[in-house]
Amino acid sequence: LLVAAFALLACTVSQAKLTVGFAQTGSESVWRAANSESIKSEAEKQGIDLRFVDAQSNVDNQMKALRSFIADQVDAIVLAPLVVSGWEAVLQDAKAAGIPVIIMDRKIVADPSLYATFIGSDFFKEGQMAAEWILAHADQKRKIVELQGEPGSSAANERQRAFASTMATHTSDGFRIVARKVANFRRDQGRQAMAELLTTHGSDIEIVFAHNDDMALGAIEAIEAVGRSPGRDIMVVSIDAIKTAVEAVASGKLNCTVECNPLFGPKVIEAVVRLTSGGTVMKETFNKDIVIDASNAAQLLPSRQY
Ligand code: AHR
Repeated sequence: LLVAAFALLACTVSQAKLTVGFAQTGSESVWRAANSESIKSEAEKQGIDLRFVDAQSNVDNQMKALRSFIADQVDAIVLAPLVVSGWEAVLQDAKAAGIPVIIMDRKIVADPSLYATFIGSDFFKEGQMAAEWILAHADQKRKIVELQGEPGSSAANERQRAFASTMATHTSDGFRIVARKVANFRRDQGRQAMAELLTTHGSDIEIVFAHNDDMALGAIEAIEAVGRSPGRDIMVVSIDAIKTAVEAVASGKLNCTVECNPLFGPKVIEAVVRLTSGGTVMKETFNKDIVIDASNAAQLLPSRQY
């Protein structure tokens, strides 16, 4: 009788273990690695069976992952969407299967009833903060080049839109975006794109705005390769605040990085637990991000976790 009771208990416990499918964009940046790790470690802490798929920056891979999560009837789906559009059909299937979907990091354009919640940073605000920092600190510098993240992603779209609209209010002061290049949030592509821009636009370039730190760090290498001084001859501003970027701010090669904190695994997993136990969640939760420049970089460095 005792053995049977134990078997029943073990069975109930194993049935109670949640299975969650997580379709991550890929591993394009240092930010992304920290974000994946944050969600994996929190899931493990909470005893969740996390099915992690690295979509390798390919939307078809992400779509396939979602379809297999639905077929396997997971308890919840976490999606970091590569791009904003194209999700309606698969989300309708998830809804029909009764599987709650948590959209995290990047936003989508879709009927909001198709997902339970969004958790991430406010990319528009980040683009605005980067532009405002430049406006306040540019001295005589005016001509800007922009290194852009993955086309079609909310991160690239919103940061570009915010930056352009903030700068547009200061054209009378001479601020001008002279060129833009896509470098997909990757360091090697940032270096390559910047090298090309330096060849085509030469001494015209006075300011670089990169949609993330990896691209900015690549750009810094390209600037040094042509014998110019990043942070001094050319102002460099980016987004994420990964530890190596904060180090670059402290050493003067990067002028400013706007934080985009990837360590929100606990918030995502908390939403999973609530949604699968009949609880409610806010429709949108935004992370709080700060600006890091020469005034606070050294002080913040020791506590940087990613
Ligand atoms: O979606 C967030 C962005 O994606 C981060 O800024 C970037 O580093 C990442 O790859």
